Amino acid sequence: MAIGRFLLMSGLSFFGLVGHVLAQPVPGLPDPLQRASGGRVTTVAEWQQVRRPELIELFTSQVYGRSPGKPAAMTFRVFDTDKKALGGKATRRQVAIYINGKTDGPRIDVLLYIPNHVRGPVPAIVGLNFWGNHSINADPGIRIATSYLEKSRNNPYVNLDCVVDNRATEACRGINARQWPLDSILGHGYALVTAYREDIASDVPATRFSTGVHTAYPDWQNRPDNFGTIAAWAWGLSRLMDYLQTDRAIDVKRVAVFGWSRLGKAALWAGATDERFAAVLSNESGAGGATLFRRGQGEFIRRLCTVFPHWYSTSFRQYMDKEAQLPFDQHEVIALLAPRPVYIASAEQDKGADPIGEFESAKAASAVYRLFGREGLPATTLPPLNSSVQGSIGYHMRTGEHDVTALDWRYFLQFLDKHLVKK
Ligand code: GCU
Repeated sequence: MAIGRFLLMSGLSFFGLVGHVLAQPVPGLPDPLQRASGGRVTTVAEWQQVRRPELIELFTSQVYGRSPGKPAAMTFRVFDTDKKALGGKATRRQVAIYINGKTDGPRIDVLLYIPNHVRGPVPAIVGLNFWGNHSINADPGIRIATSYLEKSRNNPYVNLDCVVDNRATEACRGINARQWPLDSILGHGYALVTAYREDIASDVPATRFSTGVHTAYPDWQNRPDNFGTIAAWAWGLSRLMDYLQTDRAIDVKRVAVFGWSRLGKAALWAGATDERFAAVLSNESGAGGATLFRRGQGEFIRRLCTVFPHWYSTSFRQYMDKEAQLPFDQHEVIALLAPRPVYIASAEQDKGADPIGEFESAKAASAVYRLFGREGLPATTLPPLNSSVQGSIGYHMRTGEHDVTALDWRYFLQFLDKHLVKK
């Protein structure tokens, strides 16, 4: 039988086989169960009381920075409810979060779609969006984002011709709907909850730390463990969760946090720092997200800290060109989610995110899941392209480029259906 035909019949792509060969344990990877003070964690209690806080502090002080927590003066205002949104399929709700309680201060607009065909309270998927709430669906009822909006040409994901003077216009509605399959999400019985990254913190190097949450904490930038934009986004996700705790349509015990790319980096950190999130979906979060720095593949710390000087804390810069000597690696961020379910998704052509590194990272995090008596990632070698493995940690590598596709969502929803079962 011709080899190509054999591979096709057995469901293995050529890359799938190559992948098996390429995916190798990464030498020198820190053991997440090894305590800084010496000794190895052997019980769940030791993990929870000693090692977990130790790792949170390590990543806070060395990578992401220290975030302020829930502002005492923060308020919510529900400014829209439409029970017959999307042709009657969903209830749309929009809420303004006033970070310091002042209606002329920094504001995060939250958009919720709650499925109408199921009895609540319903589980939810919370995720930040790249181009404004209005971009995820053409629904004319969505408030158009008022924060800064980039106007890049030839953006492979969205057409930003609708942007005028770096603000969204009516023509920007639904420009990114392709990446947000609302029908499937609602069809599986989940509410979708989203907010715009720029409402929370500036993603533009020139205006970094001068909008959103950073304006409420100006002094916090004068320290080496200043909270960067990734931490600010994670902080914002926790504020969305604060709101959800007040909304009776949502089952707050079954809320998953989702993010793609830089917003996937933020989703992982949100899940690590906020145990109210019951599950995490990381789509191609790559360097400073799910992948391992130590493999020395894809994007390096130097690039993260110079092209995106606002993403991480100042202290992270000391590790530029020192990937091999890091006192931590990103599998330990995944491990901080244990025993909660987490799905790591990669794309074959997304070389910057080092897909194999994401797989190896998920594998290495499994040690902590095993401590909890869970399997973690049920694979030691890469699964065939476009197929999914799902234990408490899920993983797939799909064909194609850096993106969010229907296949990614199909596996995310399948994974959540398995894990977020009502108790
Ligand atoms: C850049 C960056 C990545 C990031 C990506 C994105 O490519 O280098 O780290 O994940 O942007 O957010 O789209």
